[in-house]
Amino acid sequence: MSRGKKLTQLLIAVDGPAGSGKSSVSQAVARELGLSYLDTGAMYRAATYFCLEKQLDLSELKTSEIEKIFEQEFKLRITKEQKILLNGQELKAELRQTRINQLVSTISANPVIRKLLLTLQRELGANGGVILDGRDIGTTVFPQADLKIFLTAKPEERARRRALQENSKNTLAIQEELKERDRLDESRKISPLKMAKDAILIETDNLSFLEVIEQIKQLAISLVSD
Ligand code: CDP
Repeated sequence: MSRGKKLTQLLIAVDGPAGSGKSSVSQAVARELGLSYLDTGAMYRAATYFCLEKQLDLSELKTSEIEKIFEQEFKLRITKEQKILLNGQELKAELRQTRINQLVSTISANPVIRKLLLTLQRELGANGGVILDGRDIGTTVFPQADLKIFLTAKPEERARRRALQENSKNTLAIQEELKERDRLDESRKISPLKMAKDAILIETDNLSFLEVIEQIKQLAISLVSD
């Protein structure tokens, strides 16, 4: 599939559980290989933010009602610089709020939301030259990706890293939240969190950030070097 492609034309899928380092690793690899980067989790977070701000309870609405509201009122744009704009407003810190963490797995299990964001993600990645990170990139969004990585680490390690990142001392509460999100993401009907059969598993517990980046870079380079 990647035969004849240049490094900058590759499409790389990075999936894995919550807090496994997908975003920071993917951003760094993208920068070093000259690819663009798409954080699909941020898109689900933006949909969750929208529901909270509008006080929408999706479980109380019909599919057609959800479709109509999102079609008419949810205008999501991702700029070249990876800014997330919802109806023209940039969302950044808002997307990492606890209330979003607590609801995002419920919102992302909704078929209307998944269909909408799947279409957008496929459009944004259509020309290749991009790393996408999420839960279902290698299984559903781009099953034909040139390279699929499944990034993971033990729950305690993921919670430890997330606590550091958020400057929080409450590692146990973070671990519980990550676990609950993984449970919901793994058990949902549509596009559950699952390693694609042809993905390469990288367990990062005993690897440094730079070692993980180097492994992915080398895998990408090996695809185009012959
Ligand atoms: O950064 P973190 O690993 O905490 O999560 P994220 O990548 O921002 O994703 C937030 C949530 O969005 C996940 O827990 C999933 O419920 C959902 N998601 C998804 O369903 N499919 C994706 N491709 C990406 C995220």
